[in-house]
Amino acid sequence: MKNNKTYTKITTHSLQEMKRDGQKIAMLTAYDYSFAKLLDKANIDILLVGDSASNVMGGHETTLPITLDEMIYHAKSVIKGVNRSLVVVDLPFGSYQGNSKKALDSSIRIMKESGAHSVKLEGGSEVVDSIKRIIDSGVPVMGHLGLTPQSIYKFGTYSVRAKETKEIEKIKKDAVELEKAGCFAIVLEKIPATLAKEITKLVKIPIIGIGAGSDVDGQVLVMHDMLGLNTDFNPRFLRRYSDLAAIVNEAVTKYISDVKTKTFPNKSEEYN
Ligand code: KIV
Repeated sequence: MKNNKTYTKITTHSLQEMKRDGQKIAMLTAYDYSFAKLLDKANIDILLVGDSASNVMGGHETTLPITLDEMIYHAKSVIKGVNRSLVVVDLPFGSYQGNSKKALDSSIRIMKESGAHSVKLEGGSEVVDSIKRIIDSGVPVMGHLGLTPQSIYKFGTYSVRAKETKEIEKIKKDAVELEKAGCFAIVLEKIPATLAKEITKLVKIPIIGIGAGSDVDGQVLVMHDMLGLNTDFNPRFLRRYSDLAAIVNEAVTKYISDVKTKTFPNKSEEYN
């Protein structure tokens, strides 16, 4: 690493600089004001208002049901808690596929109604026209290749992608196409570490990995998973940094007990 420049505000340009300087990029998801404020204060570089909100906030099995209106609601809440981080918002399933005008309209709604800084969408050559049209309107776009959860019913499983030559070659070609189209970064999800390393060298824009090994420009995790709020999801790539589910359970159990035993509230907690 050449230097470790500090940034008071992260922009898409800061991210290019970070890649150039070998400074790793840290990204997490956020869906609400309170957590966004905490993560921003801790100096996270990028906050992704991911469509994983469909799972961890909405309780859906897949990311497909979440709507554009719901994504905008989450993005608006996140933006209010942010001073430093770059906020990226996922275009949800059905808001961009197969129609570049629709992709542009959805992106403009996200930017205008939430105040977010950029959008992310899944796919390679199939969505390049949409990406170009969105970028031409002035909206920065992050790409997403490898395991793309909006296509779960096409893949059939959430297992590691790009193990066969045909898919390996397509991902490499797609990464180059996304860079040429003007994406400011690409998320690579659940692909072999050696392939992620190769793609990171192949393109000049930052590569953010999730289950893509360490030889990429940055990492992203779903906040609920890494904080241990969601304990049902245990893939190999996930490192848990806390056990908030247990902490919450302990606090709530104690609260219930205090209420039931009439030890909450006490005299100092009441008004005269
Ligand atoms: O929606 C999401 O949380 C994502 C990350 C897993 C990259 O797209």
